[in-house]
Amino acid sequence: MAETISGLKRTHYCAQPRTSDIGCEVILFGWAQRQRDLGSLIFIDLRDRTGLIQLAFSEGSGQEAYQKAFTVRSEYVLAAKGIVRRRETPNPRLATGEIEVVVSELRILAKAETPPFEIVADSVVKEELRLRYRYLDLRRPDMQRNFAMRHRIVGVAHDYFDKNGFLEIETPVLIKSTPEGARDYLVPSRMRAGGFYALPQSPQLYKQLLMLSGFDRYMQIARCFRDEDLRADRQPEFTQIDLEMSFVESDDVMSINEGFVSAVFKEALGIEIPTPLPRMPYAQAMALYGSDKPDMRFDMKIHDLTDIASRSGFRVFSAAAQAGGGVQAINAKGAFAALSRRELDKLTEAAKQYGVKGLAWSRLDRENGSSSFAKFLTEEELAAIYGRLDARDGDVVLIVADENRDTALQALGALRLSAARTLGLIQEDVFSFLWVTDFPLFEYSSEEGRFLAKHHPFTAPLDEDVEKLETDKAGCRAKAYDLVLNGVEVGGGSIRINDPELQRRMFTALGFSQEDAQERFGFLLDAFRYGAPPHGGMAYGLDRLVMLMLGCDSIREVIAFPKVQNASELMTGCPGRVDPKQLDELHICLINE
Ligand code: AMO
Ligand code: AMP
Repeated sequence: MAETISGLKRTHYCAQPRTSDIGCEVILFGWAQRQRDLGSLIFIDLRDRTGLIQLAFSEGSGQEAYQKAFTVRSEYVLAAKGIVRRRETPNPRLATGEIEVVVSELRILAKAETPPFEIVADSVVKEELRLRYRYLDLRRPDMQRNFAMRHRIVGVAHDYFDKNGFLEIETPVLIKSTPEGARDYLVPSRMRAGGFYALPQSPQLYKQLLMLSGFDRYMQIARCFRDEDLRADRQPEFTQIDLEMSFVESDDVMSINEGFVSAVFKEALGIEIPTPLPRMPYAQAMALYGSDKPDMRFDMKIHDLTDIASRSGFRVFSAAAQAGGGVQAINAKGAFAALSRRELDKLTEAAKQYGVKGLAWSRLDRENGSSSFAKFLTEEELAAIYGRLDARDGDVVLIVADENRDTALQALGALRLSAARTLGLIQEDVFSFLWVTDFPLFEYSSEEGRFLAKHHPFTAPLDEDVEKLETDKAGCRAKAYDLVLNGVEVGGGSIRINDPELQRRMFTALGFSQEDAQERFGFLLDAFRYGAPPHGGMAYGLDRLVMLMLGCDSIREVIAFPKVQNASELMTGCPGRVDPKQLDELHICLINE
């Protein structure tokens, strides 16, 4: 059934009519993009979510419509009835560029004030203004395209997982706070004074319980909440494509997900993603790329110079090596011109952000070469370093030394990305996937003085590393995998612990007493005593996936009403104050007002 407004029934969306419709009557609804008054002729570009079409008005074709068209301003809401005809001067940039509609009847359905910015693609308007008037910003064609694509991706997810036997089951949004991971958003209880719900950081525990309940394959498009600092790829509320499977090992979860990735790229973008996707253990990703989410669209691998450095007379290098740290390097091939002294100063500052004390560099050139460290090394040492890096004239060598090997690697990983951007090595239209596997099970927190779960406390250790739970936490690896796309973590998951005894050892390793564990996760521990199948799963950051598929720089471009840096929402101004009566009911008293 087509929409009807006071007797006018829509026949087409604006971008639909073609030359094959010439001579036909059409009825269109939409917004006036702009009005041009040429005297005896008035043109209005009419816009809806599909695109634009040109409406033409003349006194001859409809006196009343012509008079009304004269008063139309940008963003007026219109209904127009008329006949499609061939345009005198076609506009090749429009899908409807060969035709126009000669309007016999025009209705102004709503007037509009002048918008604070023009509704056009590729806006250069400041994001703050866009977000304040988000409802107008969302009218822009690129935003309409983004949300159509997002819808499509979710549609493919539902289809794909449905076809593979997954049931979508909703899990609650008001749940028990189980700290571990990011900070929770809390919701005070009215019924129970002093009680708080948490908003879920993910459906993790519930989906595991669903496996215990025998649902076998679960999926959900789930809203998640994390009170973290925002970044371009992070929002306090975001959406996951979340799934869990029973009777599986890592390979099963990964291959079902490879099927999804290839289906979604094929159906939403028409792009073939070859599977199986490449895999790399975490340790190798760190050693070669200085990152657990390496961007594989370019090479520039990290080389370890620690052995050469440890024998050197240059204290910066030898001290780091002898302290058990690392001396790591990359060769930016052919970067002599692009990485000037000034660029290197910038890179040095960037490296320091990662906690290293400096950056040693050489710009190699027979005549104009220079180096920050060559004078401290012997000829042999230099030859060994350049040899290992295959460094020649025209190249720029970057070396970072630190007493902590991971610090050196991470700094160099960041420099690798930064140098690649400067050198234009990153192809924008390539989709490069990588599974990063065998993550460390634990992560040491110097803040808390204990090991924390890197993923979450239910992630299973690798079979061969189980004994390390007690003896070598730092060396204990997990049955955990992240899916990385173009250097962004788009998803992650793991095989879970389904043995209560192993779970108990895990909690002990994390420094929880049995009472602590029972208090926090008692319901889960109890449940697991009633027959938990082996299970595992994964979750995608839907926003990130859509962002990357569309080539956007920020997830705010694919979230209809996103939050900004300080976690506020500029259009409504939330978070806002509430009535003291509401606080009373919630048994909340504000301090330091
Ligand atoms: P994880 O915490 O890795 O795993 O989250 C899964 C994916 O969600 C996305 N993501 C985010 N996207 C936007 N804003 C955020 N603040 C944000 N935080 C995470 C990332 C990430 O890869 N329950 C586990 C999954 C599992 O083990 O099955 C989980 O939530 O793309
Ligand atoms: P300095 O002895 O501080 O003058 O440093 C000599 C050279 O070593 C300079 O080029 C520094 O940038 C470099 N350098 C200092 N600290 C480091 C480090 N941690 N890693 C690599 N190079 C460094």
